[in-house]
This record gives sequence, structure tokens and C-alpha cells, in this order.
Amino acid sequence: MCGGAFRFSHVIFRLTVIFWGWTVAGQAEAEVADRGYVVYRDNCRDCHLSTGMGIREMNAPSIAGLPRWYVTDQLREFRRDQRGGHDDDAAGQLMQIKAKSLGERDLAFVGRYIESMAVNPARNTLDLPTIVTPPARYLADCAGCHGEQAEGNRRERGPPLTRQPDWYLLKQIESFQTGRRTHGDASKLEALAEAEVKAIVAWIVGIKEQ
Ligand code: HEC
Ligand code: HEC
Repeated sequence: MCGGAFRFSHVIFRLTVIFWGWTVAGQAEAEVADRGYVVYRDNCRDCHLSTGMGIREMNAPSIAGLPRWYVTDQLREFRRDQRGGHDDDAAGQLMQIKAKSLGERDLAFVGRYIESMAVNPARNTLDLPTIVTPPARYLADCAGCHGEQAEGNRRERGPPLTRQPDWYLLKQIESFQTGRRTHGDASKLEALAEAEVKAIVAWIVGIKEQ
């Protein structure tokens, strides 16, 4: 009898410990999510909107669904003048000011929040033609770092290209070609003709989100 009661209270004790651990872990997760939301609301929403879809008139792209590692890579580049430091890059300079005002921990929190946001489904804003087959040039020169379906390749630090709108992708490619922004492999982009760039972007913005 006595042993049974002991075992019973022991089980209750164990269950309480497990439940407590689970609640604390749950709270920590929730705090991370809340903190990401707060950082985003207070620092990013004005230009990227609460949906993460961006405001074209401000040159602010949709960023919803970008992976956490890419968001933190970019925020760090803005902070270190590796992106947005060019005299002729007003859009990048806006982001530099924001990125420099964030603490290191907040970079990770906000990256996680952005990763969790639903991707922009309307990325073809320029009425680009529908292209369903990946352009040969893309497969040869870009897929190695950006993925066969432009889903990104973390090992190569190549971001997915299926979250951003057409006007932004075109503008970034132009920035890489003119030296306003540094690319993983500048020579690949410099070699592209205008028609090839348009075909690649038209195909990318037609890819349905995986
Ligand atoms: C004052 C307006 C403004 C605010 C506020 C702002 N951004 Fe931006 N953001 C921009 C602009 C403009 C660009 C495009 C820069 C370019 O063209 O190179 C951009 C680009 C970015 C990019 C790069 C996207 C890509 O695909 O390369 C990321 C990531 C980003 N912003 C995250 C954030 C985060 C996180 C915050 C809040 C901490 C924030 N932004 C606040 C204007 C803003
Ligand atoms: C060697 C790897 C590599 C290859 C090859 C490559 N890229 Fe990139 N690309 C990157 C990296 C890394 C970045 C992020 C640059 C940064 O850190 O600012 C990037 C960024 C971009 C961006 C900007 C995305 C954004 O959200 O701002 C575009 C657009 C792009 N690449 C297009 C292309 C195209 C088109 C090709 C083929 C012609 C190509 N890339 C080939 C590595 C590569």
C-alpha cells in the first residue's frame, strides 16, 4: 500500500516536472515569436508593410518568406557597408540606417519572423510574359547557387528568388551589373543580355511557391 502510494506520488511528481519543462519551452518559443513580431512592427512595417509585401513607391520589396539565414546575412551586409554603401544607392542607404539601429539578437528574431510570413503570390507586376520552362541560361549560370526552381541554396548563400517581385529582381540585377551592389558571381550577370535577364525574371515570377 505504502509503496503504491509512493509510486503514485512519484509519477505525479515526474508528470509535473515534464509538464513544467514543456510549458517553459513553449513560453521560450512564444517569446522568440513575439519578440520577432515586435521588432518587425517597430522597425520594418512602415516600408515592408505588416504583410511583408513591401511598397514599390519606396523601392521596398516584398520580403515575406525569405529564409532567416538570408535576412540576417543581408542585415549584416547593410551594417558593414557591404551593401547599400554606394553613393548611387538611395534604396540601400535607407536599409543601412535601419540595419545599423538593430541589436545583434534582434536580427535573429526578426529573421525568424520574416521567414514565417506568407509569400507574396503576386510577383508579376510588370505583365511579363508567361515562361514555364527554366531558361537554359538560368540552368547553366544561376541554378548552382539559386537552385533549379530558384528555391535558393543555403550552402552557396544564394537566396531564393521566388519571394521578391519582378521590378525588384530587375533592379538588383542592374545594380549588380553596374557595381552598385556586389553579387556572389558578378561575371555571370555581366554576361547577360537584356532579353536574357527579362526571360529569367519572367520565368521566376511565374513559379508557384513550393
Ligand atoms: C525606410 C524604409 C525601410 C524600412 C523601415 C525597412 N526597409 Fe528593408 N528595404 C527597404 C528598401 C528600399 C529595400 C531595397 C534595397 C535595395 O534596393 O537594395 C529594402 C530591402 C530589404 C531586404 C533585402 C531583400 C532582398 O531580397 O535582398 C531585407 C532583408 C530587408 N529590407 C529587411 C528589413 C527589415 C528586417 C527591416 C526592419 C528591421 C527593414 N527592412 C526596414 C526599405 C526599408
Ligand atoms: C556563385 C554563386 C552565384 C551564382 C552563380 C549566381 N548567384 Fe545570384 N546571388 C548569389 C549570392 C550569394 C547572392 C546574395 C548577394 C548578397 O549577399 O548581397 C545573390 C543574389 C542575387 C539576386 C538578388 C536577390 C535579392 O533578394 O536581392 C539576384 C536577382 C540574383 N542573385 C540573380 C542571379 C542570376 C540571374 C544568376 C545567373 C545569371 C545568378 N544570380 C548567379 C550567388 C550566386
